[in-house]
Amino acid sequence: MKPVFFQQIDRIRELPSLPAIVFKVNHLLQDLSTTADQLTRIIETDQAMAAKILKLVNSSFYGFNSTISSINTAVIILGFNMVQHAVVSFSVMKAFSLKKNLKRFNIMDFWHHSLAVSVISKYLADHADKTLSSDCFTAGLLHDIGKLILAEYFPEHFEKIWLTMDESPDISFIDAEKMENNVNHAEIGAYLVGKWLLPQPLVDAIRDHHSAFSGDHRISAIIGIANLLVHTCCPDPEGRIALPDGLSDAPAFLLPQLQTLPQWYPRLQVEIAATCQFFSAHQNE
Ligand SMILES: [Fe+2]
Ligand SMILES: [Fe+2]
Repeated sequence: MKPVFFQQIDRIRELPSLPAIVFKVNHLLQDLSTTADQLTRIIETDQAMAAKILKLVNSSFYGFNSTISSINTAVIILGFNMVQHAVVSFSVMKAFSLKKNLKRFNIMDFWHHSLAVSVISKYLADHADKTLSSDCFTAGLLHDIGKLILAEYFPEHFEKIWLTMDESPDISFIDAEKMENNVNHAEIGAYLVGKWLLPQPLVDAIRDHHSAFSGDHRISAIIGIANLLVHTCCPDPEGRIALPDGLSDAPAFLLPQLQTLPQWYPRLQVEIAATCQFFSAHQNE
């Protein structure tokens, strides 16, 4: 039998959903023979998304001198991956624009964290197993989505978790959840994403992002490690980065990237800040 929490989620009428374009683009890009023309045609069916893709390619991040006005050119310049990421990111942020104003929860900090995990997950996948890059980006962005479900639809329960954290400042959100309820934000997020019919490894990664890293489930390991890095890896005043504790059981396929972390992590911080700024500026258009 489903836990009561999931039954309550099933009863929410206006549960956020992703627009059809996300599924169309994800489906199309699973086929390696997909062409830029096919992707262009899908993007062009959604005027708002097409406008955002043009803004993205014309943003200062890409630094082109002349204005690009064709979706087809934008698709070729950005590449399939980036177009997919943009479609997913814009759609997820729009679907989850929090309506409630919660005292201790800052939605921009939430998206900054989620984007950081997704950019770092994608970097790890790009260098360890490129076939996982797209799924890692999407899973990174969605990994904490269960927190938004709690914030929006179960605000009293959400508030209680924060109160538990206030009382015991050393415990994390997930530990406070364990004390309050037998279902946590990772399981709630996975339940929601499972309803959207996203690929199973992606659903598993969302559910397992606070569990021990497993080499058998590569996306789960990547998301779990990226989440840990974003939570714990801060440069010291001299800008040096040290490896956080807790990586001793990281799977072997990620060790080369973790051993060279001080060389690439600060560079990604710049990319994360630029990506975050762009997506938040155009989120509600
Ligand atoms: Fe989490
Ligand atoms: Fe997280």
